[in-house]
Amino acid sequence: MALFISFEGGEGSGKSTQAGRLVRTLEDRGVPTHFIHEPGTTKLGLHIRELIKGRPWGKDTISHEAELFLFSAARADLVSKVLSKQVEEPRLVIVADRYVDSTVAYQGYGRRLPLDLVDSANRLATRGVMPDLTLLLDCPPADALERVGKVQSGLFDGGESGRMDDAGTRRFEDEPLAFHRRVRSGYLKLAALEPERWLVLDGMNEEDKVFDSIWQAVTRMEKFRAMVEDSDASDAILTQDEESERTLFSLSGNRPGR
Ligand code: TYD
Repeated sequence: MALFISFEGGEGSGKSTQAGRLVRTLEDRGVPTHFIHEPGTTKLGLHIRELIKGRPWGKDTISHEAELFLFSAARADLVSKVLSKQVEEPRLVIVADRYVDSTVAYQGYGRRLPLDLVDSANRLATRGVMPDLTLLLDCPPADALERVGKVQSGLFDGGESGRMDDAGTRRFEDEPLAFHRRVRSGYLKLAALEPERWLVLDGMNEEDKVFDSIWQAVTRMEKFRAMVEDSDASDAILTQDEESERTLFSLSGNRPGR
């Protein structure tokens, strides 16, 4: 079975940057990796992304219920066409920039749709495909939104985060602070309910430090270690860099294609 890791967090939490770093680090070490970005990845998902973020209808809005169905439709398509097959692969790390917990945090806690209905939609869309590890980049919304403002005005180098929201298409960033506070506390509740799946990290910490914690968490996972040790590239080496207390992983052999 593949190892499935999702990244979650509010606007400006740095999760896309960290997800991108994880993908590159794994690929550089020859670990087969697949990256998914929600909503997106499939054709339908990309269309839905444009619909939600692009506001092609001027000042008209999407109802909260319709928004839930749009995100769920994108996810259902992704799971049925891509994820349900990929999770069966014996040696693959799937890295998701947002997954089902975003819907609970944004549509459930943020939009205040009934949590049991959000849960039903999620169960239908995911067919039970859930991450092994979910990394929450937790930030106070006011600080994180300020960071987003700087990203968008070009004052802050957000790296290759793949953000799609140019000025004028900031559907969620334009929500009041109270909305973002509800999203944050929703995430923290989810993490507390399932501590074995979640790792909460301080998203305001330095980027390199956050990544060190992520890398440690991934390389310490039983499933990851088993995947690496059982791989054909049998020169797998897992070493502990005692000086820096960082877990370094290196794997020699051919770099597989994506
Ligand atoms: P994106 O550009 O991916 O933003 P970010 O860089 O913050 O991930 O846009 C996705 C937006 O959609 C983001 O504001 C969160 C929101 N969202 C939901 O409200 N529900 C969901 O189920 C998902 C996947 C995303």
